[in-house]
Amino acid sequence: MEEELIGIKNAALSFILEAEDLKSLEETKLQFLGRSGKLTLAIKAVTKLPIEKRPAFGILANEVKQTIEEALEEKAKSLSNARKTNLLEKIDVTNPGIKPPLGHLHLVSLAIEEITEIFEKIGFVKVRYPEVEWDWYAFEALNFPPNHPARDDWETFFIDEKPHPKYGPMVLTPHTSSGQIREMTTNKPPIKMLNIAKCYRRQSDVSHVPMFHQFEGLAVDTNLSIANLKGVLDYFVKSYFGKDRVSRIRPYHFEFTEPSFEVDVSCGVCKGKGCKLCKEGWLEMGGAGMVHPNVLKNCGIDSNKYSGFAFGWGVERVLMMKDGIKLDDVRTIYSDRMEFLEQF
Ligand code: PHE
Repeated sequence: MEEELIGIKNAALSFILEAEDLKSLEETKLQFLGRSGKLTLAIKAVTKLPIEKRPAFGILANEVKQTIEEALEEKAKSLSNARKTNLLEKIDVTNPGIKPPLGHLHLVSLAIEEITEIFEKIGFVKVRYPEVEWDWYAFEALNFPPNHPARDDWETFFIDEKPHPKYGPMVLTPHTSSGQIREMTTNKPPIKMLNIAKCYRRQSDVSHVPMFHQFEGLAVDTNLSIANLKGVLDYFVKSYFGKDRVSRIRPYHFEFTEPSFEVDVSCGVCKGKGCKLCKEGWLEMGGAGMVHPNVLKNCGIDSNKYSGFAFGWGVERVLMMKDGIKLDDVRTIYSDRMEFLEQF
C-alpha cells in the first residue's frame, strides 16, 4: 500500500513537470486529486488496512497529497508567468498608438456658431426663449387675426394642455418670430436681438423635417428703415456666403411685417446668370420686413416713435445653400449616417 502511494506521487510529479500549459496541468490535477482521482481512491482504500497500520498510512498519504498540491501550484505560477512574458514579447512598444476616433459638432451646430458670430460683430445679442409657447406669442401678438387661415400655413403642433385664459393654447414654436414678442415685451428699445431656435411644424418629406432651426433678427429703434434692413441682409450674405454674393428683396406678405419681403441671395454656382441649381440666378433664403405697427403696439412700444425690421431664415436652408449641398432628402441632416455627417 505504501509503495502504491509513492508510485502515485512520482507519476503525478512527472506529469506536472511535463505539463506545457495550464490546461494540461488542470487535467493532471483532476487525474490525481479529483473525486475519482488516483490518490483519492488510494486513500479511500485505507479501510482495507488493519487498524494498527492506518495511522502511518494516513501520515504518508497526507504528505503525498501536500507534495502534489505544492508542485501543482508552483508549476501553475511559472506557466502563467511564461505566458505574460510571451505576450510582452509580442507587443512592439515602438509601434504608433491607435488613435481613438474623434467626433465634432453637428453641421447644424457649426452653422449656428458661425451665424451667431457674424451677427454679434454688428451688435446683435443672442437670446433664448421658450420652445413651448403660448398661441399669443406665436400668432396673436404677431398680428394674426383669430382663426385666420394663415395659422394653418404654419402647421402647428398643439400641446395637450389647458389653454391659458389670456394667452390661449400651448404650441411648439412654429417659427422664431415668437421670440420677437418675448423680446419686445421684456425689453425697451433700442433692441438688437438674434434668436436662434428649434422650430416645429407638422411636416415630414424629402424637403421638410418636423423639427428644424431658424435664426431671427429683430432691431427696434428710432428711424430704422428698409435701408437698414437691406444693409444687414447684404452684410450677412457677404459674411456667410462670400464677398461676391449679393442679396435682393422681393415684395411678399407676412402678418407681422409691413412691408414684407422675400430675400434671395445670388447663386454661387453661376454668379447670378442662371443655372441648373438656381434656374434664374437667385436662391430663395427666407422672409423679412419692417415690424408691423400693430406688433409694436401689442408689445407696448410706441409705433410713432419707434420702427423696426425683422428677418427669419432657416439654418438648415442657408447651410445647404452655402455648402452647395443638394440633398435628395433633407432628413439626411438628422440621420445617423456617419459617412454624410463626417464630411463637415
Ligand atoms: N417667421 C417667418 C417664417 O417662418 C419668417 C419671417 C421672420 C418673416 C421675420 C418676416 C420677418 O416664414
